[in-house]
Amino acid sequence: MSPIISPALLADAAEIAAIYGHHVLHGTASWEIVPPTPDEIAARMGKVLDAGWPWLVARDADGEMLGYAYAAQYNPRAGYRYACEDSIYLRHDALGRGIGTLLLAALIDACEAWGFRQMIAGIAGSEPASVALHARAGFVEVARLRSMGRKHGQWLDVIYMQRALGAGDATPPMEEP
Ligand SMILES: CC(C)(COP(=O)(O)OP(=O)(O)OC[C@H]1O[C@@H](n2cnc3c(N)ncnc32)[C@H](O)[C@@H]1OP(=O)(O)O)[C@@H](O)C(=O)NCCC(=O)NCCS
Repeated sequence: MSPIISPALLADAAEIAAIYGHHVLHGTASWEIVPPTPDEIAARMGKVLDAGWPWLVARDADGEMLGYAYAAQYNPRAGYRYACEDSIYLRHDALGRGIGTLLLAALIDACEAWGFRQMIAGIAGSEPASVALHARAGFVEVARLRSMGRKHGQWLDVIYMQRALGAGDATPPMEEP
């Protein structure tokens, strides 16, 4: 059954913290070492939601959270305001069932609606599932930074993949200062 994808609420912070915390402790996709608390996740969500950027959650028919995805401006400096970076994490027992593909497609739609023109994925640990997920969604590798991270006793690369959104750089944005 297809997951139900909807905008996240601050009240979702505890479930999001539980999903993310598993990957912090056991994976290499995040280079945090200590799982953030629900309050810290709520603070991070607040910054994204206050800016009007998308934060989506996927739930099953019983309402259990399966994963989440969000996008934020790639760099806080104003010149980057049409470039976003995505982040997507699924519950550890919901991987490999197509949920990431659906969440990322919904996130891309939401980012295009917001007006972002480029999306970057910084794939820490060069996770094969994340590389495949983004390639399937039209991202291409634009850079690989070698041995930038250290976690679980390994030196880890970061792969940057990029995709144009909407008209990309073919037209100016809707608003110029
Ligand atoms: C990365 C992630 C979001 C992908 O979501 P998913 O639901 O597991 O992926 P899907 O089932 O939609 O599959 C997407 C693609 O990845 C491939 N894939 C899935 N799991 C894979 C794995 N373990 N190894 C290699 N490829 C894999 C699928 O075959 C599919 O590619 P295809 O369309 O070419 O066949 C999810 O696995 C996850 O949360 N991983 C841990 C955290 C993480 O790495 N987050 C990304 C941070 S940038």
